[in-house]
Amino acid sequence: WWDRIKPAPRDPITGVTEAFLADPHPNKINLGVGAYRDDEGKPVVLQCVREAEAKIGGSEFLESISAGVSSKLVEESVKLVYGKDSNVIREGRFAGVQALSGTGACRLFAEFQNRFFPESHIYLPDPTWSNHHNIWRDAHVPQRTFRYYNRDSKGLNFQALLDDVKNAPDGSFFLLHPCAHNPTGVDPDEDQWREISHQFKVKNHFPFFDMAYQGFASGDLDIDAKAIRIFVEDGHVTGCAQSFAKNMGLYGHRVGCLSVLCSDTKQVVAIKSQLQQIARAMYSSPPVHGVLLVSTILSNPDIKSLWVREIKVMMNRIQRIRAALRDSLEKLGSPFNWEHITKQVGMFCFSGLTPNHVDQLAKEFHVYMTRDGRISLAGVTSGNLSYLANAIHQVTCC
Ligand code: LMR
Repeated sequence: WWDRIKPAPRDPITGVTEAFLADPHPNKINLGVGAYRDDEGKPVVLQCVREAEAKIGGSEFLESISAGVSSKLVEESVKLVYGKDSNVIREGRFAGVQALSGTGACRLFAEFQNRFFPESHIYLPDPTWSNHHNIWRDAHVPQRTFRYYNRDSKGLNFQALLDDVKNAPDGSFFLLHPCAHNPTGVDPDEDQWREISHQFKVKNHFPFFDMAYQGFASGDLDIDAKAIRIFVEDGHVTGCAQSFAKNMGLYGHRVGCLSVLCSDTKQVVAIKSQLQQIARAMYSSPPVHGVLLVSTILSNPDIKSLWVREIKVMMNRIQRIRAALRDSLEKLGSPFNWEHITKQVGMFCFSGLTPNHVDQLAKEFHVYMTRDGRISLAGVTSGNLSYLANAIHQVTCC
């Protein structure tokens, strides 16, 4: 039966974790996956999650998820995106469903796109999170890319981005990262978002936002949602995938939300039921525990404000690491410009290291990252920082 089946290629991100785990070296460092770690390099269970666990302990039914809990999750999640006092929320103009984290939300939307817009493409930023390519491929939606990143300035290629938006056929689907772009850490500023939104309006494009890192760009949930709110103010119909993997440290629980804005309640009913039907055939419903945790955190004001403070703590640690890594490289006398380490935002630094540098770092220094040179700064600690800076200095200078 199975002889003709060859192994799938290694995933560019999870493959890094596999290589790291297989390395017995005591000084090894994993800068691959974008999952938060504390200054000891340990995964963190947030205090808000502990408090939510204490509240729900024993109360959950081990039945498939009840509609009530599920809609609480959606109701609270969308407030984080559109703003609790926004017209969208007041008028209930969104079709929202819980999803298996950000990946699941993207997958549901991609399937929906394929089903109802079979002629359409998805425009992905170049570069983007590697899994976006897999998700839309498996949903049979053809892909195109739009220019995003300028390799020379290590910043945004704004003019090229606008040109690609203008040159795409009217009514195209675009995927945008509203904050903390993965993998580059480069976001448009507010004026640039306004200009992008304006061009989308002119071209009648559909913006689909993948918001996997809300809170990690600025430390503030509202500021990180600003790009989406600009589009909504401009009257766009939008879609948004949300993940609680990073900002609540719930990677393993797979909690997320997909919302699609609509013009009226008739559309809300139609779209929501279609999304539910797609989910029903793929996995039916998500596991109940994570959904309860997130809805408890978001609907309890005290636990929610604790969460907001904890996001700031995570974000501040990453900011300190950015400054310290740049400083260490400069102190080592590196002839290269490392300004982008502190200019980029979010969990990642798109370092500019080449695939050869990355291979050498793994082989000689047991430092692991994706081959595009993306560093997950969450993996850097006060304890391994100087070892890492020295390793980067050695591979780039010697
Ligand atoms: C990443 O980019 O490392 C994260 O989004 C984790 C993942 O699942 O790829």
